[in-house]
Amino acid sequence: MSSLNKTILTTKEIVKQKGKRQLQMLTCYDFQTATLLDETPVDFILVGDSLGNVILGYENTIKVSLNEMTIFASAVKRGAKKTFVIADMPFGTYSSYDKGVESAINLFQTSGVEAVKLEGVSDTKLQIIASLNETGIPVVGHIGLTPQSVHQQGGYYTHGKDENGAKKLLDDAKKLEAAGVFLLVLECVHPPVAELITKQLTIPTIGIGSGNKTDGQVLVINDLLRMGKEEPPKFCVPIANLYQTKLELINNHLSKHGQPLQ
Ligand code: KIV
Repeated sequence: MSSLNKTILTTKEIVKQKGKRQLQMLTCYDFQTATLLDETPVDFILVGDSLGNVILGYENTIKVSLNEMTIFASAVKRGAKKTFVIADMPFGTYSSYDKGVESAINLFQTSGVEAVKLEGVSDTKLQIIASLNETGIPVVGHIGLTPQSVHQQGGYYTHGKDENGAKKLLDDAKKLEAAGVFLLVLECVHPPVAELITKQLTIPTIGIGSGNKTDGQVLVINDLLRMGKEEPPKFCVPIANLYQTKLELINNHLSKHGQPLQ
């Protein structure tokens, strides 16, 4: 049994790590995996709304409800006693100022996570972020490919490849920093733009599919361990094929023992 000496980072400690080392974040959606990640040096666990795709079998993240997120985030937090946990605010739960503040307080208070994350930038979202900070709820931003807006963005692709797109991303990143996010996820951002944003901000950036010049990386654990039948995204090199391993174990067991489940 590993006895890793680990404590939950504070947001101040997280910001201080900028430029010093690569921060590591993995998604997680259940109690047992959270207890396991607690025994690793991973800095953050993200209870992403990717749970809609990889756990609940939805076509995208849009269907995930606040109730579902609260159940999964609570389970993860019960397992992750030594790791900073961030929960995603689901689609539609921050569509107005009042709703956003109320949903975030609910999710934060009920699940016990250390921070919430929301996607995109608008005046309403910036006001929500400022208000949550005042209330004592740390907030993570997320720009670039924001899966909750997949229909508005017109699919899944790399953002910031042209000058206007790159400028907008940089402006948005600065607005989020000014509003008070302590960490910013850059998803599928053109790598030179991700690097520029990283250099211009004082808070750490966490990239996914955005090159290797951000302050840290996040991956969906199901992709890293290849837990599903489908191919992981191009930017993720799996370190295992748990789908195949489990399939073989169960098939071998069944064929050897006939009636294994007793
Ligand atoms: O929901 C999620 O897993 C995420 C990461 C991909 C950043 O938001």
